[in-house]
Amino acid sequence: MTSPRHNASASAQPSVAPAARHPAPDGTLVILGAGGDLTHRLLVPALYDLACSGFLPDDFKVVGVSLEKQTTEEWVASLRARLDAFTRDKHAEFYTTKISEETWQWLASRMTYRSMSFVSAEEMQTLTADIAGRNAVFYLAIPPRFFEESVVTLAKVGLLTEKPGIFRRLAIEKPFGTDLETAGKLNAHLLSVMKESQIYRVDHFLGKETVQNLLALRFSNLLFQPLWHRDYIDHIQITAAETLSVEGRGAFYDATGALRDMVPNHLFQILALVAMEPPTSLKAEPVRNAKQQVFDAIRPITPENAVRGQYIKGRSGDRIIQAYRESMGVAPDSITETYTALKIELDTWRWAGVPFYLRTGKGLSNSVTQIIVQFKQTPLSLFHTEDGQPQPPNRFVYNIRPDKGADLHFNAKKPGPETNISEVVAQFRYEKSFGSLPNIGYETLLYDCLQGSASLFQRADNIEAAWRAVDPVLKAWAKDKKPPEFYTAGSNGPAGADELLARDGRSWGPLNNIKK
Ligand code: BG6
Repeated sequence: MTSPRHNASASAQPSVAPAARHPAPDGTLVILGAGGDLTHRLLVPALYDLACSGFLPDDFKVVGVSLEKQTTEEWVASLRARLDAFTRDKHAEFYTTKISEETWQWLASRMTYRSMSFVSAEEMQTLTADIAGRNAVFYLAIPPRFFEESVVTLAKVGLLTEKPGIFRRLAIEKPFGTDLETAGKLNAHLLSVMKESQIYRVDHFLGKETVQNLLALRFSNLLFQPLWHRDYIDHIQITAAETLSVEGRGAFYDATGALRDMVPNHLFQILALVAMEPPTSLKAEPVRNAKQQVFDAIRPITPENAVRGQYIKGRSGDRIIQAYRESMGVAPDSITETYTALKIELDTWRWAGVPFYLRTGKGLSNSVTQIIVQFKQTPLSLFHTEDGQPQPPNRFVYNIRPDKGADLHFNAKKPGPETNISEVVAQFRYEKSFGSLPNIGYETLLYDCLQGSASLFQRADNIEAAWRAVDPVLKAWAKDKKPPEFYTAGSNGPAGADELLARDGRSWGPLNNIKK
């Protein structure tokens, strides 16, 4: 933490947040859904982290809106209780040994709770006084069924109207529609009451340092640039595997499935960052344009290139995981997939003939989000390993979680009179290089939204292009109504996913011997 800032403040609020070089502009964050999990678990811890590092301005306010009847003090106390709970759980997403009383007071003194319905114009009207003459970001931490109505209400009472020097923005999280048609309708709806530049479509994967670093890795190092090409790369794998089952989210998940839940959003964001051409700058439009080119280049995915699986009862470590169909909120004959693997081809000069294999699922043997860039074999194999195998081709493994960092696998001569080679690994680990900082993954997203920097957020056409790419698979699955292939919880997924790669003479990187 840098040294505390002691600004003279016109208000009676404490002003002890430490100074950052570029704090966000003055303004109010209005959270719709202030009583919910997203607010408690992610948004407020992220605000606390931002306050700790001085990225919030002195004239910052948070207004929490929810139906629940409670006072500001009660709301603030419940937020604090959740933060405190994190200090007792080393495995929590946000872990810190101690909450700084001074910083918490700084933040808490800027918070107000309003009990009201976010779809009642009459009640929402009363927020006008809270944000009169101020910049404001409205964060929709509410169930998606309320998205359209709440935004219409905000617009109706004039809360989204910008004036010279005053911004009004909307942050909205996935699920952004459930297919191409619904995403298109939601976009049209939002754009009928506000400008594209006011909308910040959040994909929480882009809040992860390791995901943001993909741009830096690719475009601040000349090293990778010439190799990042069909001439040198055999194929790329993107994995987002979870040991978690659907836990308490059965009803949501059964109507969603692994493909909708993870692919056109999180996995495609990774795909875009890995496959995109260098943007002309890091500003929002060049980055979004470069991503759009990737989405537009995805060749329609045929059902033969899409695997679906569903977990049955099994064991993960010392935990017994019940079959998906026995989870609360899930139909006993559900055919919803809890796992999907896809082969994706991009019709571009850079990537023609280089398949991208994507897989994601729940109830698997390990929780790991990872990219494997598998390079081609050398034109001629001069060397062998000790057991007579040809030299393995180089591999670059980028770990998004849990072991954040990257491994470059290459060959070296094993010391000794014989000329044998062995694979060695050059390793980068975030913690070793940068130390460990509490980071919930929403800090940068909130800060950028307040700053008006939209590079990490999706444009309407990005969202629709991603849905367009998976639409043929969704339609084919809805039509054939085939049950997914079963896999045992705690395993590496269905056999069909292995066959998808075996067909091309390839195999997935290991899942279950990666460090947890
Ligand atoms: C969410 C999905 O968007 O992302 C969840 O709805 C999934 O099903 C989660 O578990 C994964 O995110 P993370 O950050 O835990 O990898």
